[in-house]
Amino acid sequence: MDKFIIHGGKNLRGTVSIGGAKNASLALMPATLLASGKYELANTPDLRDVFTMSKLLQSMGVTVERKDHTLHINTFRVNKFEAPYEHVKKMRASIYVLGPLVARYGKAKVSLPGGCAWGPRPVNLHLEALKKLGAKIELDRGYIIAKARRLKAARIVFNISSVGATGNTLMAAVLAKGTTRIENAAMEPEIINLAEMLVSMGAKIGGIGTTTIEIEGVDALHPAHISTIPDRIEAGTMLVAGALCNGKIRVENCEPAHLSALTARLDDAGMKLSVGSSFIELHAPKEILPVAVSTAPYPGFPTDMQAQWIALMAIAKGSSTVTDTIYFDRFKHIPELIRLGANIELNENTAAIKGVKKLIGAKVMSTDLRASAALILAGLRAEGETEVLRVYHLDRGYEAIEKKLQNLGADIKRVAGEEF
Ligand code: EPZ
Repeated sequence: MDKFIIHGGKNLRGTVSIGGAKNASLALMPATLLASGKYELANTPDLRDVFTMSKLLQSMGVTVERKDHTLHINTFRVNKFEAPYEHVKKMRASIYVLGPLVARYGKAKVSLPGGCAWGPRPVNLHLEALKKLGAKIELDRGYIIAKARRLKAARIVFNISSVGATGNTLMAAVLAKGTTRIENAAMEPEIINLAEMLVSMGAKIGGIGTTTIEIEGVDALHPAHISTIPDRIEAGTMLVAGALCNGKIRVENCEPAHLSALTARLDDAGMKLSVGSSFIELHAPKEILPVAVSTAPYPGFPTDMQAQWIALMAIAKGSSTVTDTIYFDRFKHIPELIRLGANIELNENTAAIKGVKKLIGAKVMSTDLRASAALILAGLRAEGETEVLRVYHLDRGYEAIEKKLQNLGADIKRVAGEEF
């Protein structure tokens, strides 16, 4: 398993280009199951999770070919309607094939996703919504068995905002008979990207980008070409890297409007920001001001930036708190940050951080995707050498992150192989 070796203390300078959004691609790819034919998904990032989704679709008879950052997908010969455990255990987003398979083929056998590094990840909202749309759902030895002659429209009111359940329900409702109404729907940009793809395939969807979505079911859809939106979490991670490393950086090919909660907090922390139509420039101050955040569904502060923000607050001039209201146990990065000298106390789902003057490099272990990002960011700031082990977690959601950081002046290198 690869590790990164980082020598901290370098000031970051220069420009970094942002890739396509992992969490959009993982919804756009299974949406191709809704209509037979050829699709082009442009600006698709080259990530482990995208590779896993490609393998899952290929196991169903779909052909998926990558040409640079465009996926060429052909769904003429879908002949299997299953998502086996070996795929789903690697990536929870495999559940996204459930809605399209039931809507288009009337059947699906999808493994229940296991938990993940930070705890259980239920799918009850997905299943309840599909049942409301008329699917027969049974659980059999760890698998979801779904059947439906033809889905029928329903009014679905989510009691909590769920990106995945909104995406799955959208992809099921577009072929249901009648008009479906989803209330308390997720508004994340990745869901908007999915809805726009479905509309380009002939779906009739109103209220896109709001919490109430209306879908008038159609009898059939057709293939389309779509471009994946920029990855707001990759962009946010690079901005926090600049903030931590006395940076003067420009983050390009991003969508600043998707980052407004983060840039508002960076501004509060003392960063000098200038924002264009597709870039954000950040000049970091010598002293970082402490800023408390609490995560929330979009457009609130993203839970996927929670770990990175704690890394930044670790060296702020004063105390702050970070609360995760989405995932109460997404804090595996804290013990590792403490190994780097951070002063953090966790109480339930709130981290109390006392800024320290400096972090000191050490060996730290990645546990999940965004925790790994936080450890790299802290290592870029820490004095001396930091080794971040098990970086395969990072490769799930960041394309060539070490190269992008090297181009900004960071001293980071990947060491391949070895069992750590
Ligand atoms: C998506 O996961 C993202 N993944 C996650 O990003 C992100 O953290 C999350 O949304 C929240 O923004 C993808 O898009 C592939 P949810 P998802 O359903 O859809 C609870 C990353 O780092 N819930 O919005 O699985 C759930 O436990 C990943 O890129 C239920 O209770 O998240 C959580 O507390 C990590 N029952 C809350 O809802 C359900 O059926 C929000 O989860 C579904 C969810």
